[in-house]
Amino acid sequence: MYPDTNSITDDNPHCVETLMEFPSDLILFLRRVERVSALTGAGVSQESGLRTFRDTQSGLWAQYRPEDLATPDAFERDPKLVWDWYAFRREAVKAVRPNLGHYSLTEMEKKFPEFTLITQNVDGLHQLAGTKNVLELHGNILRVRCAVCGRFTETWGSDLDSVPRCDECDGLLRPDVVWFGESLPRLELESAVTASRRAQVFFSIGTSGVVHPAAALALAARENGSVVIEINAEPTPLTPRADFVFHGKSGEILPALVKAVWDISIQV
Ligand code: OAD
Repeated sequence: MYPDTNSITDDNPHCVETLMEFPSDLILFLRRVERVSALTGAGVSQESGLRTFRDTQSGLWAQYRPEDLATPDAFERDPKLVWDWYAFRREAVKAVRPNLGHYSLTEMEKKFPEFTLITQNVDGLHQLAGTKNVLELHGNILRVRCAVCGRFTETWGSDLDSVPRCDECDGLLRPDVVWFGESLPRLELESAVTASRRAQVFFSIGTSGVVHPAAALALAARENGSVVIEINAEPTPLTPRADFVFHGKSGEILPALVKAVWDISIQV
């Protein structure tokens, strides 16, 4: 395990404010570590141009109420409002590209013998950047399925006045995302828990770490002896419990880390 872990207390993670500065023992450790997991959140896609949820000014939840748009009750009450909101976000996702942070994680996947990318993001940008082993905990906004029979569909009518319906059972179509109050996909969650427990290094990147069960993965990793590294624009509830904290943009810190560890320059 990482040589200095025992000397790191809960109140005193290695907190690095300067982007290009990485402790040399961390660099050496990352060169030889075998099992790595990374949990990502909306912050990773922020530099691609997608809005986060909880940033005070620009976050989606600063403008909209999740209970009006992201719950099964909201869909039952006003399916058109919910469908339109996700259709609007789907178009935003289709219009953007992965950023240097996504591509850095793709490179990291090639370097570690075992690498699991666990994401709360529904935008598919990790896969678009080429990362292969991605667990989508909250679904994918680009997929659509029937709210009744669950059948997936890639095409639906373009009538703007009503929510499209399933060809098979006439149920309403909905985005294949996890809403508040719904269970996470079982296999993805189980695999994420296993990967977190197995990880020698666990990265928490661009997530506020307040939505469970995803938020508990870093702690599960830590309990099993993993070195926890947080990369975030701001402190989060995980910050005091992380072994290393890098404050700044993931699209800048991750390429700098890949450069420092493997001397590889990430380009879009
Ligand atoms: P949040 O909006 O809660 O948190 C985004 C985090 O990214 C914040 O801590 C920001 O400080 C940080 N951040 C912003 N820009 C960044 C950047 N360029 N580089 C690094 N960090 C940056 O988003 P999530 O944690 O993903 O769930 O939210 C978790 C879940 O809550 C989402 O999956 C969604 C939401 O409600 C559902 O819809 C079910």
